[in-house]
Amino acid sequence: MRQAIMIKPGVIEYREIPEPAPLLEKEILLRIKKIGVCGSDIHVFHGKHPATPYPVVQGHEYSGVVEAVGSGVSRVKPGMKATARPQLVCGTCGPCKRGQYNACQELKVQGFQAPGVAQDLFVVTEDRIVPFDDSMTFEQGAMIEPAAVGAHSTNRSGSLLRKNVVVSGAGTIGNLVAQFARARGAKKVLITDVSDFRLGIARQCGIELTANVATNSFADAVKRAFGDEGFQTGFEAAGVQESLDVLMQYVEKGGDVVVLGVYSKNPVVNMYYLGEHELNVYGSMMYRQEDYETAAAMIASGKIVTQPLLTRNFPFSQYIDAYEFIDKQGDRTMKVMIDL
Ligand SMILES: NC(=O)c1ccc[n+]([C@@H]2O[C@H](COP(=O)([O-])OP(=O)(O)OC[C@H]3O[C@@H](n4cnc5c(N)ncnc54)[C@H](O)[C@@H]3O)[C@@H](O)[C@H]2O)c1
Ligand SMILES: [Zn+2]
Ligand SMILES: [Zn+2]
Repeated sequence: MRQAIMIKPGVIEYREIPEPAPLLEKEILLRIKKIGVCGSDIHVFHGKHPATPYPVVQGHEYSGVVEAVGSGVSRVKPGMKATARPQLVCGTCGPCKRGQYNACQELKVQGFQAPGVAQDLFVVTEDRIVPFDDSMTFEQGAMIEPAAVGAHSTNRSGSLLRKNVVVSGAGTIGNLVAQFARARGAKKVLITDVSDFRLGIARQCGIELTANVATNSFADAVKRAFGDEGFQTGFEAAGVQESLDVLMQYVEKGGDVVVLGVYSKNPVVNMYYLGEHELNVYGSMMYRQEDYETAAAMIASGKIVTQPLLTRNFPFSQYIDAYEFIDKQGDRTMKVMIDL
């Protein structure tokens, strides 16, 4: 079978490798159909990911078909469409023991610190499998991963019910966070970005309130969106200093700020707002199994839409072209998919 392996930054080699060994009791063999590319993959491509050694087989957001199952597997059958959570955890550390295994002390993410799925067949274990509805496309199946980030982060703070929410950053992640905030009962959701193109995609996904903070002030945008009500929860999904600053400064006193962004430059946090405004700041790390399952169900039901996020597909043989396309397109690309 085929495998794409990144030997060093910028260089992918294709190899013929043997098919996986016979399955253990709780293992499932997936035939990979689509692999989504995200910003972290691009960082690896450029040699700028802080925690990925080379060579590395990439691919952590994906969909496929169950090809075979081990003797002890009951959750899926051959022929079903499925994806799986790419997290390898120890099961014995403090976070694992209290069910917070997404923050396992020994976490290895497939495609980064462990081999990913950029090959025809891939073995996963039953505890991480997530079957998805037959009515869903393989592209939708590969979007379960970023959608699960939205599902998890919108459960981190208190309930969003009847709250006004601002999501700062309208990339794939911010877009899906905003859709989940709405689905979880937020009163109004405003999404901000510095790219009109990405704000347009947010509107196509049904997020009506958008603001370009390169051409408008954040405070004005908030005033226009919510009047005197302000906003009670902010989600930082841009990964830049300015975005964190305005959320901390303008969220209602006593409000919540959920941080998803990964910062290439360590931001300075204004502790005045944290203390004097008695804010709650939450981190949000990937997802857990239930977030994957929620994401799969919400996409199947049409409550979370992913079609407007899809920019273009590339064949498996053109992985490098896909990366170069993303680099060249800048903000005018959202999700690029690799077809196997
Ligand atoms: N916590 C997690 O589990 C998790 C998972 C995946 C990604 N991430 C991180 O979340 C962030 C978003 O991911 P993505 O894939 O959507 O990235 P992205 O780069 O596609 O999106 C970020 C968006 O922020 C916008 N932006 C830049 N400056 C801004 C500002 N001042 N105000 C508002 N928006 C601004 C950019 O134009 C861009 O559209 C990244 O930092 C990524 O590393 C976190
Ligand atoms: Zn990703
Ligand atoms: Zn652990």
